[in-house]
Amino acid sequence: MTERWPRHDMSFLNGVRQRRMRRTGWLRDMVRETVLTPHDFIWPLFVIEGQNEKTAIRTMPGVERMSVDLLVAAAKDAAAEGIPALALFPNTPGHLRNEDATEAYNPDNLMCQAMRAIKQAVPEIGLIADVALDEYSSDGQDGLVRDGEILNDETVNVMVRSAIVQARAGADIIAPSDMMDGRVAAIRQALDAEGFSHVAIMSYSAKFASAYYGPFREAVGSGDRLKGDKRTYQLDFANSDEALREVAQDIEEGADMVMVKPGMPYLDMVRRVRDTFDVPVFAYQVSGEYAMIRFAADAGAIAGEAAMMESLMGFKRAGASGVLTYFALEAARLLNA
Ligand code: PBG
Repeated sequence: MTERWPRHDMSFLNGVRQRRMRRTGWLRDMVRETVLTPHDFIWPLFVIEGQNEKTAIRTMPGVERMSVDLLVAAAKDAAAEGIPALALFPNTPGHLRNEDATEAYNPDNLMCQAMRAIKQAVPEIGLIADVALDEYSSDGQDGLVRDGEILNDETVNVMVRSAIVQARAGADIIAPSDMMDGRVAAIRQALDAEGFSHVAIMSYSAKFASAYYGPFREAVGSGDRLKGDKRTYQLDFANSDEALREVAQDIEEGADMVMVKPGMPYLDMVRRVRDTFDVPVFAYQVSGEYAMIRFAADAGAIAGEAAMMESLMGFKRAGASGVLTYFALEAARLLNA
């Protein structure tokens, strides 16, 4: 009688079997290399004018823009789950946008209103202020535009003014997301001069010109305005060494933390930055990445919660200190449950 499933002679393994350590749940728990906690998440939020206002974002199901009062409630929820910080982005109404992006340094702009309110009501949560002109300008570019050209040094001047009003409104971390040259040093110098030496800079250092920002541009209302692309300032996504030079320069200029963005298609960059430098590196799981997981889950193509957690663990495994993710609250709740 021959056996139905005869065993192969495995003596060549010399007793080594990798599966031995995956045999049971407790063993897998015991040898897990990477852990994910709510402290790993930074929650990006979109601010709108008004009272008790929430608006849906068609391309980001489950994410809503919120008026300041609702944002305060969201900040409380986030703090209760152990999320350390929020990253705020304003949806500036059209009538306040202009070619000079002057709203960026209005001390009473939406961003500043939101930060003052959250600082007052939820002082235990950190506030990260995005600095870039696309959220305030009439043409959706991150810089001032003259004859189709993005002006570097003139843009930096506006960004510095923007960073200062944000620091005055309570920003703990200034996060320039524009990719102009020299903005980190300029902002550092101005912050110190104005008495904000304790305010940190998280630089969007390795920010690639990406198709994955689409839903964000709908969320902040810059997408319809944008003509052309951002390839004269954001990185060419074929380049990895150049991205490292950007990171090196930002650290040299005084960045306390750096960021790689987008996230999932750039985990190689997260790992390279982690292995090359000794400052905290964050990754941004951007709007298009969120949308891919959410829409695929809604269509029944993937298990949403499982895919969310797997994607977030990937960032930690790649060496990120933390992740900016629209899943922050949902993932933190799942971890705390
Ligand atoms: C703007 C900015 C963008 C994002 C963050 N800050 C968009 C862009 O550069 O066009 C994208 C975030 C996301 O897609 O979730 N300076």
